[in-house]
Amino acid sequence: MGYALKETEYRYRAWTKDGKWQMGKLTTDKYITIHEGSNVFHYGQGLFEGLKAYKTKSGKIQLFRPEMNFERINQSLDRIVAPRLSKELFFDAIDQVVLSNKDDIPEYGLGQSLYIRPFVIGQGMNLGVKPSDEYLFSVFCAPVGTYFKGGLSALDFITTDYDRAATNGTGQVKVAGNYGASLYPRQLAKDAGYAGVIYLDPATHTKIDEVGAANFFGVTHDNVVVTPKSSSILPSITRKSILYLAEHVLGLKTEERECFIDNISEFKEAGACGTAAIITPIKSITHKGNKYQFSDGEVGPTITKLFELLSGIYYGDIEAPEGWLREVKEK
Ligand code: PLP
Ligand code: COI
Repeated sequence: MGYALKETEYRYRAWTKDGKWQMGKLTTDKYITIHEGSNVFHYGQGLFEGLKAYKTKSGKIQLFRPEMNFERINQSLDRIVAPRLSKELFFDAIDQVVLSNKDDIPEYGLGQSLYIRPFVIGQGMNLGVKPSDEYLFSVFCAPVGTYFKGGLSALDFITTDYDRAATNGTGQVKVAGNYGASLYPRQLAKDAGYAGVIYLDPATHTKIDEVGAANFFGVTHDNVVVTPKSSSILPSITRKSILYLAEHVLGLKTEERECFIDNISEFKEAGACGTAAIITPIKSITHKGNKYQFSDGEVGPTITKLFELLSGIYYGDIEAPEGWLREVKEK
């Protein structure tokens, strides 16, 4: 089951009819029977999102910035030429899946959450390379703990010569093919004893792009929080939130700009961030046989503060900026 702690009972399914989305409903059937000629199997017409529901101390259930996942799923749909979802359909699915599986949302205090996985696939017989005539939108969920083993402990990463996405390819959207392309470099890194892979920009291989299925950020010696600017990375909601918190709560300067791998020593702290990764501190990056270590191998103070702020917001212990949280409750 990988990252999931267990499977849950209910999932939501909705289909298109004559190219238009119909409202869907819950089912307990985990299996999907679709035609062997479906685009998702052959031409990669599939995409997903990832967001989490958290239980607060008082037992409230809240989602972190789900409107941003809604916007991003529609950007991904545009890129694979599939019909956009309405807000009504997206949130009907999320709310129903969260509420129907609410007994499986981990209790406050465990550092766990309910990971929600919306996805869309192109289905139906189609041999030519063209968009599908039919689509399925589905949402399922599973309780999860930490994505990278070890909670807030720093891990070792290595750069790769492989790319997950091309410069003007699909890196900015959350389409299935990007993840298929990432399995081999990930395996090489794992086999060599690393927690994961650092992708460099596909055009020049001189700048940091991403950390596997998470974004990269670093803290310079004069405390500027920096994240890469690149056309081939996924615009992470967590990263956006970290930059906001660094600037508005910690009062630090932030920059979105190129991060040259040969200048990695400009950072005293570094981390990977994402819905699944939360904030995972980076202990070291190995590049072309040279290992650069951050914060003497410890978790640095700025990363610790950002992690505490972000988790405090997730679990309702720290007040969130306006509009960041959506409570899920029975209507
Ligand atoms: N980069 C990639 C490739 C991802 O798959 C993810 C996960 O969604 C992220 C970054 C982090 O994005 P977010 O913070 O929106 O989850
Ligand atoms: C997420 O953080 O939501 C991701 O997409 C990572 C994942 C592929 C488990």
